[in-house]
Amino acid sequence: MTLRRMATAGILAAVVAATLGAVSASANGPHAPSPKDQSLRGLAARNGLYVGTAVDANAYADASDPQYKSMVDSQFSTVTAENAMKWESLEPTRGTYDWAAADALVAAAARNHQLVRGHVLTWYSQLPGWLNAGIQDGSIDGPQLRELLHKHITDVVTHFRGKIWQWDVVNEAVSDPWETPSSIHLGGNTGSLKQKFADLLGPDYIADAFRWARAADKNALLFYNDYNIEAFGDGGPGDKTQFVYDMVKRLRAQGVPIDGVGSQGHLSTQYGNYDVFAVADALDRFTDLGVAAALTEVDARSLTKNASDPTVDAAGQDLNARDQASAYNYHVLLQACLLNRHCLSFTVWGFTDKYSWIPNWFKNPPEGSGCLWDANYQPKKSLRTVQGDLAAAGPPLVQPRVAQKPRR
Ligand code: XIL
Repeated sequence: MTLRRMATAGILAAVVAATLGAVSASANGPHAPSPKDQSLRGLAARNGLYVGTAVDANAYADASDPQYKSMVDSQFSTVTAENAMKWESLEPTRGTYDWAAADALVAAAARNHQLVRGHVLTWYSQLPGWLNAGIQDGSIDGPQLRELLHKHITDVVTHFRGKIWQWDVVNEAVSDPWETPSSIHLGGNTGSLKQKFADLLGPDYIADAFRWARAADKNALLFYNDYNIEAFGDGGPGDKTQFVYDMVKRLRAQGVPIDGVGSQGHLSTQYGNYDVFAVADALDRFTDLGVAAALTEVDARSLTKNASDPTVDAAGQDLNARDQASAYNYHVLLQACLLNRHCLSFTVWGFTDKYSWIPNWFKNPPEGSGCLWDANYQPKKSLRTVQGDLAAAGPPLVQPRVAQKPRR
């Protein structure tokens, strides 16, 4: 860490401490509320950490469920549109933009003093029907797709200029080791849309996407975002984290304006997952490249319960074990983020099981229960764990965040 960074951090720490005060555990004073009765945003602010959620635009606007909106407004200091800023939402008809839902989210965030993570500019998924069809049937060729993407990034980033803290400029561009071919590459399974999208655009599209985004907004932090990069593997051809690391290193060496790496953090308790130090090591290696980091889409799902026996899940595991395993996964990701001063934000992909994407997406085998609050907005062990971690985090090992400067 440079002296300048240390000095900035010292000032930040003083400001944060002066404006927010110390965390109030009941043992520290007669009238202090317990951390479990404080907001996540308040607890996280002591370390300069932003804590966020993906926002379901329909649930937020649903007057029959006011609790959803009030919790988004009060618990979180940053928000991400779960779907409203995706290409299919913004340009459902070619050439005609619909900004309404995304603008509403940005306006609400301003009212609530929240920062916005812009999600997402370049992604093979959730493309508008007209674009999808053109890619699939070959009527949109590589140069045309490149031009469409250039225009899309320019129009969207310009529209929201000055209102977005972090942009996910490129999302999920890299394959997984369980795909074919299994060595990590740009794209996905042979013949998939993910692979077609990558092949049509060619290897330089990632650098260009960042350059186009920077040309439209010189102050937003520009992120590469992906899943399955929470920890390094063996460093070999099947190590996705290593591939992304090498890619970011190359982009930095080429002077591409990339400011951060977003690690999505979609975990499932059916897997072994990681420990705190494996994740902290991955974050450190990324931020040693000079970029910031963020946990951008955290949830920790489990196999869902067996309908005939409500005390066990599909694998015969008891529910207490499942909830504790989920809480442990939140703990691992949050502690790793807290330990790295360049890890700017910790965002969950929905905060209540009521509207979570998980049951709709992970059906074979069925999974669920990945959020901090249950479907009735009742706190789960994972929420208590996150609150406890935030309350207990402080100097000397946990210091306030170091602000990231947009790279020009
Ligand atoms: C998901 C949304 O939560 C769902 O509502 C939608 O149907 C599909 O996309 N990685 C991402 C997110 O980057 O955009 C995805 O969001 C979840 C996985």
